[in-house]
Amino acid sequence: MTQRLDGRVAVITGAGSGIGLATARRFASEGAKVVCVDLDAETGAKAASEVGGLFIEADVTDEQAVRDLFQRVVDEFGRLDITFNNAGISPPDDDSILVTGLDAWKRVQEVNLTSVYLCCKYAIPHMQRQGKGSIINTASFVAVMGAATSQISYSASKGGVLAMSRELGVQFAREGIRVNALCPGPVNTPLLQELFAKDPERAARRLVHIPLGRFAEPEEIAAAVAFLASDDSSFMTANTFLVDGGISGA
Ligand code: NAI
Repeated sequence: MTQRLDGRVAVITGAGSGIGLATARRFASEGAKVVCVDLDAETGAKAASEVGGLFIEADVTDEQAVRDLFQRVVDEFGRLDITFNNAGISPPDDDSILVTGLDAWKRVQEVNLTSVYLCCKYAIPHMQRQGKGSIINTASFVAVMGAATSQISYSASKGGVLAMSRELGVQFAREGIRVNALCPGPVNTPLLQELFAKDPERAARRLVHIPLGRFAEPEEIAAAVAFLASDDSSFMTANTFLVDGGISGA
């Protein structure tokens, strides 16, 4: 495999599971120095040890923790090239606007959207000093289309990530910092498995709408993240990058 990320320092939030874990493996295989960030100390440390990277235990909704984590990365490695803002949570069980309470709504915005705001806020100054950087923010296909199953707080949080990424991509383009939003379709990870365990019919309902006829594997999303992180995507910024099995095109 080509070493597209040779020596690049990459932060991945939510690296202990699913898409984040697959991306940690992919980044490492492409030569990056990987910093695995997760709330879950056990899975996060395991991921970091597997890829020979650094683990930082942090809650990405905590401003001080986010500021400290990026400072620590720069103190240890001298630079920050890539930030993959991927940590997120699934919607509440019934995420209809008629059901979702304000506390549940706020929690989803905090983890899925405010965390991305915080991580961009504290990653960008380090990238500005280098005059280069690539930020990939995980949105979702539900940011660009209505989902068959109502998920109002989740869709709104991901729509926010998409709009914020576009805005930041435009704002910092002339400083060499690229910001793109990644929109996966349904991916076979613990997050999705948890949703389907609560509502087994949901999987069948979803599959009908995916032209490729299956869910993505986390490695397929990681391949797209590696592309966005690397110079192979050097003319892409403020982009909505759909990796969704055709669901949004159907
Ligand atoms: P996952 O549940 O397998 O992994 C999420 C990771 O984020 C976990 O390791 C968890 O501990 C960590 N995390 C959660 N809250 C955190 C916090 N406050 N601070 C630090 N770490 C935290 O989830 P998955 O499926 O890999 O999802 C990753 C991202 O992709 C999420 O943003 C999700 O919304 C998004 N996504 C997932 C899709 C899917 O079908 N699985 C589809 C589209 C988007």
